[in-house]
Amino acid sequence: MRGQSDEMSLIRPAESVAALVRGRQDVLSYHISSTASRDALTMSLNLKINGKSLSLPDLDPQTPLLWVLRDTLGLVGTKYGCGISQCGACTVLLDGKSTKSCMYPVGSVGSSEVTTIEGLAGPNGELNALQKAWVDLDVAQCGYCQSGQIMAAEALLRTNPNPNDEDIDSAMASNICRCGTYLRIRQAVKTAVKQNMVDDVGGE
Ligand code: FES
Ligand code: FES
Repeated sequence: MRGQSDEMSLIRPAESVAALVRGRQDVLSYHISSTASRDALTMSLNLKINGKSLSLPDLDPQTPLLWVLRDTLGLVGTKYGCGISQCGACTVLLDGKSTKSCMYPVGSVGSSEVTTIEGLAGPNGELNALQKAWVDLDVAQCGYCQSGQIMAAEALLRTNPNPNDEDIDSAMASNICRCGTYLRIRQAVKTAVKQNMVDDVGGE
């Protein structure tokens, strides 16, 4: 008989959108049974994640980064969806670039800085402009895709601080939302752009 932990569940507890955009809410519990050989090569890896340097022992370098984030480090804001780099639920930043962590071997991260949804807020927990816009516009529906959406938007704004509709749609085309929140996502990105402009002027 299969245990409960073997089942994939998409049931999300009724928690706040604010928790979701911080990556504090896990909308998916899942179990992945390892098919790795007992002889798999493991090693100690040094990773930079969300501004911290971590030394992780006994890792198979072929392990997808997503599994290390979720299972080893407990950073469950990054989601497991398709597992084949097609949905964007697992999007993180690698040196600021949008990266699908479900098929990215942890051994290939090297000295790159990994940023997850948990790493976007400021040191005192203040939401960044995108997270705040996501909350203010109530973007999420089921919420499942949204951490990946925010990370893809973050990568976009780091290279293009004032994107037009086409830029947004193009940059986020590989982040799928089965609830169809695309119009709110686009609006939230534009709201964050305006907020960043205000902050830039205020900081001068
Ligand atoms: S889980 Fe990585 S792209 Fe779908
Ligand atoms: S909000 Fe449900 S999949 Fe995007």
